[in-house]
Amino acid sequence: MTGKRDLLTLDDLRAQGILAVLDRADELKALRRSGEAMPKPLAGKSVGLIFEKPSTRTRVSFEVAVFELGAHPVVLNARDTQMGRGEPIEDTARVLSRYLHAIVIRTFADAVLAKLAKHATVPVINALTDGGHPCQVLADLQTVREHKGTLTGLRYAWIGDGNNVANSWIEACNLLDLELVLACPKGYDPTASVDGKRVRVVRDPREAMAGADVVITDVWASMGQEAESNTRKEAFAGFIVEPGAMRAANKGAIVLHCLPAHRGEEIDGVYLDGAGAVVWDEAENRLHTQKALLEYLVR
Ligand code: CP
Ligand code: NVA
Repeated sequence: MTGKRDLLTLDDLRAQGILAVLDRADELKALRRSGEAMPKPLAGKSVGLIFEKPSTRTRVSFEVAVFELGAHPVVLNARDTQMGRGEPIEDTARVLSRYLHAIVIRTFADAVLAKLAKHATVPVINALTDGGHPCQVLADLQTVREHKGTLTGLRYAWIGDGNNVANSWIEACNLLDLELVLACPKGYDPTASVDGKRVRVVRDPREAMAGADVVITDVWASMGQEAESNTRKEAFAGFIVEPGAMRAANKGAIVLHCLPAHRGEEIDGVYLDGAGAVVWDEAENRLHTQKALLEYLVR
């Protein structure tokens, strides 16, 4: 036992860890804006960032986060490594643990992430798998607190695919006791555990949006599902977050999207280009929450 702490799903942080990360992310955000000297708690360390899928936000925000914490980021496109030629993930985990102080990975199967974490002796962080995107939801939660002043007592609506981001939102709501209604077409339900009380799945987007304070959506075809794009477009017709549908939500409701977005498909451009758009704060908060997370996990 190494006693290391991983973030494979939000369950690894538990409610207390999530709230500690959010509080610290707020402090780090304020400090960065103040122009004061930043703490360098990871000085002299190195953090690996492995990507098996494309990324803009996660890659850049983690690389900058590692740098600003005083550590050195080692960014690896898996295709350019021996992983891409079939070196077992177990062996990769053992070798990288001899050099690095943490490993951040974006991959496909959650089983790959689990195997990496099992065989690594340093913390492993999920930077998106087919089953979850916990780092995204940490940033989303920070954004909700900034714009609504609280996490509790709000109604959350997820509109669209029961995908990786939806699963991590379900975990967050289960841990933090938040009320979430997901509207997913039949056949596109999330895999995370839904209790039917605090978290419910419905088929009608308007039912989910009714009385919501926070409306969350994401692409209809995630990375790796490109071949299903056309079928999914048909299945998700009517699942767009747009001003007409948003009338059912509470006044002042905010719309979150992890990005990249498809204007006119899952989301109307007004929630990206309009004055009230919060998605850019949401994207920025990836940086602050991941800095807080690295500080929390890496010793
Ligand atoms: N939201 C998010 O994870 O974006 P990237 O795919 O650009 O990293
Ligand atoms: N659900 C999307 C999120 C992208 C950040 C995907 O997995 O492609």
